[in-house]
Amino acid sequence: MNTEHEAASDVATLYWVGGTDGYLKMIDQTLLPTEYKEIECRDVETVWEAIKKLRVRGAPAIGIAAAYGVVVGLQTEAGTSRAEFDQRLKIVAEYLAGSRPTAVNLFWALDRLQKLAADSADLDSGEMHALLLEEARRIEVEDLEMCHKIGEVGAALLSPGDGVLTHCNAGGLATSGGGTALAVFFEAARQGKGIHVYADETRPLLQGARLTTWELMQRNVPVTLISDSMAGWVMKEGKIQAVVTGADRIAANGDSANKIGTYSVALLASLHDIPFYIAAPSSTFDLSLESGAEIPIEERQPEEITNGFGKQTAPEGVDVYNPAFDVTPAKFIRGIITERGLIQPVTTEQVLRVLNSEPVQ
Ligand code: MRU
Repeated sequence: MNTEHEAASDVATLYWVGGTDGYLKMIDQTLLPTEYKEIECRDVETVWEAIKKLRVRGAPAIGIAAAYGVVVGLQTEAGTSRAEFDQRLKIVAEYLAGSRPTAVNLFWALDRLQKLAADSADLDSGEMHALLLEEARRIEVEDLEMCHKIGEVGAALLSPGDGVLTHCNAGGLATSGGGTALAVFFEAARQGKGIHVYADETRPLLQGARLTTWELMQRNVPVTLISDSMAGWVMKEGKIQAVVTGADRIAANGDSANKIGTYSVALLASLHDIPFYIAAPSSTFDLSLESGAEIPIEERQPEEITNGFGKQTAPEGVDVYNPAFDVTPAKFIRGIITERGLIQPVTTEQVLRVLNSEPVQ
């Protein structure tokens, strides 16, 4: 699919090309599934726009894009004084932080790079720039490793022949290439469990219909597309034995923000006594927040609902509310699947215990 791809993943979601004077390349996810096209980000404005417009999306992938965005944004500063470099780093990080508010991986990646710079005050600007690129690459590779572990931890929860439901896209496209919720399905399929995935189409931007089905079909994992409003009935019909979704930000008590509609799916699963799991790496936890009530929810343009994909489907001038995420309270989550193991029951105590343990081997 991609000859320049340097990362060891199945989906070439995003990757750096060349050395410190190189650039970020990514799949333009707004065009999938009808067109597979990669775009080149050679300045920080292009990275910001790609995050804002969801050309790259999904919490871990946004974090990786922001890390590489910092490297691109500092290319002009490599020969300047360290003070000028640090000043520009602050400006670039603040700029990228303004692209989208909910996925904490964005802020986590930017903080990580800024902390590294603060801890490396002895380096000149050129050396610092090279170190930031190394760190961005490390974030990408670590994410891939976390995805594989999440797949292994999560696959153990599924039984042969299970029907599993997912919402939005928490696949390779949302990460460095391995996926979180989809990593669970990929691993279960690899183990020969014969699972069948039901994918919610995920209104209004159809990440489930456009991206999740595309990825699963590429990997030959059986998938059936349903519209969001069908989830309850499909559960009632006995087709679903587990629900697994990703997350954009998880508070210390386990309350989890994910794509709008996830909360409804969790309530439906609870009513049908079906286990609802979140799959997410430790970089998606925000332990500074006690509960989900503090998670900022992005509100997006009304046109995404009234004029989705170029077709007007509502009267001109209609009032619209378009929150992009919702928060599922911990009490509806059977377990959180992380690279450090399963958080179960979902309580602050268990969140802290598992996150402070070593990644599973
Ligand atoms: O608006 P998006 O497409 O960025 O929303 C993405 C999601 O909600 C994903 O489920 C979440 O980021 C987890 S990705 C592993």
